[in-house]
Amino acid sequence: MPQTEVLHEKIATALRKLPIYTEPSGLYQPISYTLEQGGKRIRPLLTLISAGVFGGDPDKALPAATAIEIFHNFTLLHDDIIDQAPLRRGRETVYKKWNINTAILSGDTMFAVAYGELAKSDPELLPQLMKVFTKTAIEVCEGQQYDIDFEDSDQVSIEGYINMIRLKTAVLLAASLKIGALVAGASDEDCERIYHFGENLGIAFQLQDDLLDAFGDEELFGKKTGGDIAANKKTYLYLKALENADAATAHQLVEFYSLRNLNNEDKVARVLEIFTEMGVKNETEQAVLRYYNKAIGFLNDIRCSDEQKAPLLELADRMLNRKF
Ligand code: IPE
Ligand code: IPE
Ligand code: MG
Ligand code: MG
Ligand code: MG
Repeated sequence: MPQTEVLHEKIATALRKLPIYTEPSGLYQPISYTLEQGGKRIRPLLTLISAGVFGGDPDKALPAATAIEIFHNFTLLHDDIIDQAPLRRGRETVYKKWNINTAILSGDTMFAVAYGELAKSDPELLPQLMKVFTKTAIEVCEGQQYDIDFEDSDQVSIEGYINMIRLKTAVLLAASLKIGALVAGASDEDCERIYHFGENLGIAFQLQDDLLDAFGDEELFGKKTGGDIAANKKTYLYLKALENADAATAHQLVEFYSLRNLNNEDKVARVLEIFTEMGVKNETEQAVLRYYNKAIGFLNDIRCSDEQKAPLLELADRMLNRKF
């Protein structure tokens, strides 16, 4: 079995063995439902691969990797409430299948379970890992708050948007890699380089997510497409369209993004047309590539052989060529 598949299996096994209780079922069923659904499990894979890149034992990074995946899944439960998203991984979201209160409470429990798993790390490493994990968790919440604030703002800049996605998405990917490096005892310089690799890769990853939300195949993506447009998310696509548009089209776009009806199919269709007319798909793809190349620059500076870095490069490529 290729190395990455072995690591994937380790994560799956660790998640299956979690101490997730049965009662009250209203609390624990949604947790099992979420974690069993899988997802790509990119973040824990990054942690285990990163540990390997720096010559560490991936097993030593497994508790932290598991914690990161549980934390990520917790953010999705709450994110789907915030975004009123009906679909995730091709199935009903937790708040739709159960209700908002359940999604809040099951999510809270997952956050606690995540810390419980992290605490199983080597006691000598734990203070450092805790510090990175906690800082990252707070930053993700900051990013999510900016994302919410931006829905009602017409003052969002490209720079502000990039900072928002850096916080809500990229820092967790960056931290996943840094934690693997810390476990392997990498130098401070390499820990920072791998962090910046992840940060830029994460920005590219979220840009790609925004692209898929507008232009992806709903069946493959597993999430309802057009959701960002319906929710007035000021994505790169929107900001670029606004930049490229003549005064009348810009006015139209702003008008559409002041509507608050999430089931407005006409709005989604019309905005997609404008996106296409303004050529923003191509521009966003170029931005993905720019951040990807920036990420690779940091990877190149890391003091390991190309052979050691190969699985990381392979996963990075997979992340950006995804359809889901
Ligand atoms: C979804 O992350 C949330 C974003 C940051 C875009 P993933 O695309 O990694 O979701 P799963 O875990 O594979 O479903
Ligand atoms: C995800 O942003 C960020 C977090 C979950 C922290 P999105 O809202 O774009 O993620 P999806 O598209 O719902 O997975
Ligand atoms: Mg969402
Ligand atoms: Mg969101
Ligand atoms: Mg999205």
